Amino acid sequence: MRGIILAGGKGTRLHPLTHSVSKQLLPVYDKPMIYYPLSLLMLAGIRDILVISAPESLEAFRALLGDGRRWGLRFEFREQSEPRGLADAFLVGRDFIGGKPSCLILGDNIFFGHGLPGQLRKCARLKTGAIVFAYPVKDPERYGVIELDSRGRAVSIEEKPAKPRSHFAVPGLYFYDGRASNFAAGLKPSARGEIEITDLNLVYLRRGELRVEEMGRGTAWLDAGTHESLLQAANFVQAVEDRQGLMISCPEEVAFRLGYIDVKRLRRLAEAIPNAYGEYLLRLSREPMGGKKP
Ligand code: G1P
Repeated sequence: MRGIILAGGKGTRLHPLTHSVSKQLLPVYDKPMIYYPLSLLMLAGIRDILVISAPESLEAFRALLGDGRRWGLRFEFREQSEPRGLADAFLVGRDFIGGKPSCLILGDNIFFGHGLPGQLRKCARLKTGAIVFAYPVKDPERYGVIELDSRGRAVSIEEKPAKPRSHFAVPGLYFYDGRASNFAAGLKPSARGEIEITDLNLVYLRRGELRVEEMGRGTAWLDAGTHESLLQAANFVQAVEDRQGLMISCPEEVAFRLGYIDVKRLRRLAEAIPNAYGEYLLRLSREPMGGKKP
């Protein structure tokens, strides 16, 4: 399965913070925002990852992430010249996806939860159809909203409805089969001039091929697209990391625990970061079980 991180957009809701820096490069406590969606794709077992950003930010993403080899991954980069909508990721990334199943994650979506990696690994086995998630929120009108029947099957999905039919938002994490690019190519722009991910999901829903996975209340889903939510996300990460002494969404750690890099590589990565982050990696490299979870 291929992974796509959409890190485009103008980030106007975060101006002036994002006037000359891409939103997904801003810090969320101790690491750049993009590390969070990246780690999530890694936890799903995805190693071929495309980063899509605005042309002026692409070099900064390249400088931060490199080609992925040091983390046992493979990154490609493509520019989205204009924010043409989330579903445009499947047109920009068409050749990268190459007709294979793919997982799209939005660069400002942060997920954290105990059962999540297992749930994601199952989703990453998808061969046909699509999978979206349903997550209870207080303010569904800010999101894509999914209505479910009594058996948990999707009935409707609406993008930012004035009168939401449920309190389930659809988070910015989607799994599709190999037809996503073809379906995206057939979408018409919405009133705001974008091809909407909700419309792509509707294609699958109408064909009876949309699966919904509940993302329960034991999982934290945060988006970091406004000043308030960016600070909340940072506070959340800081509180959990400080309490547990474990990092949230540290790509080096995930790479090590999944066996993509060995202890020597981890030590080298650690030595290049002369602060608490690097010390954390060094500590991991000394763990008796070679980083593997007990
Ligand atoms: C986008 C999607 C929306 C989804 C949300 C998740 O909205 O259009 O369906 O629920 O991401 O973060 P945006 O944040 O681009 O307004």
